Amino acid sequence: MDIDIFTLFPEWFAWFSEQRHVRNALAAGTNIEYVNFRDHTPLSGGQVDDTPFGGGAGMVLRVDVMDSALREHYGIDPVELPRKRRVIALVPGGRQLDEDYVQELAVEPAVTLLCGRYEGFDERIVEHFCSDTLSIGRYVLAGGELAAMVMCDTVLRKLPGALGDASSAVEESFSAALEGRPEYPHYTRPADYRGWQVPEVLLSGHHERIREWRAQCSRERGLAG
Ligand code: ADE
Repeated sequence: MDIDIFTLFPEWFAWFSEQRHVRNALAAGTNIEYVNFRDHTPLSGGQVDDTPFGGGAGMVLRVDVMDSALREHYGIDPVELPRKRRVIALVPGGRQLDEDYVQELAVEPAVTLLCGRYEGFDERIVEHFCSDTLSIGRYVLAGGELAAMVMCDTVLRKLPGALGDASSAVEESFSAALEGRPEYPHYTRPADYRGWQVPEVLLSGHHERIREWRAQCSRERGLAG
């Protein structure tokens, strides 16, 4: 997978890139590139934003700046870009990231993430250069960078080679194996801690009963959710 992240703060991703599963995914062939769109602005003084038409607080990221950043990076008119790769604007009101969306993105060969700042994007960026929007929740972050990391974290761990034990991603919360429901509870040693006992069935060695118990817990958690 080829991921390009357009951001005004590429240094935010230094810590993220150092994490084990991210390094594993990179070693297994995923490529992540960070593009500071301030480096591509045609405006003087590194300007990337402007005051909103119609008034109001905050600054808006300019469409001409994003046009020139995407054009310089990809060498094509960015209106053509969504036909070649998923181009995703990270916005609080976007399509909510969930397991279906993650699965959809995990099979894409190439993804571009646009991180907003300030009051967000001039809407023409979203309308003309993007194929999708993405929100990690109904709250407003200072910018799209943390949302980009959340998306990459969850997508990269689906890719072959990212997890030490690939089977741990097969039967996990919201997976097809659990029919989209949350996962059942886990326990490990000690079996008795301060009188808090591990459920008897898990110590029984009876695989069929354990499987049924886990499926039942998952169903109950799904109803509670
Ligand atoms: N940018 C600001 N807030 C965001 C959110 N909740 N999700 C995605 N991008 C954002």
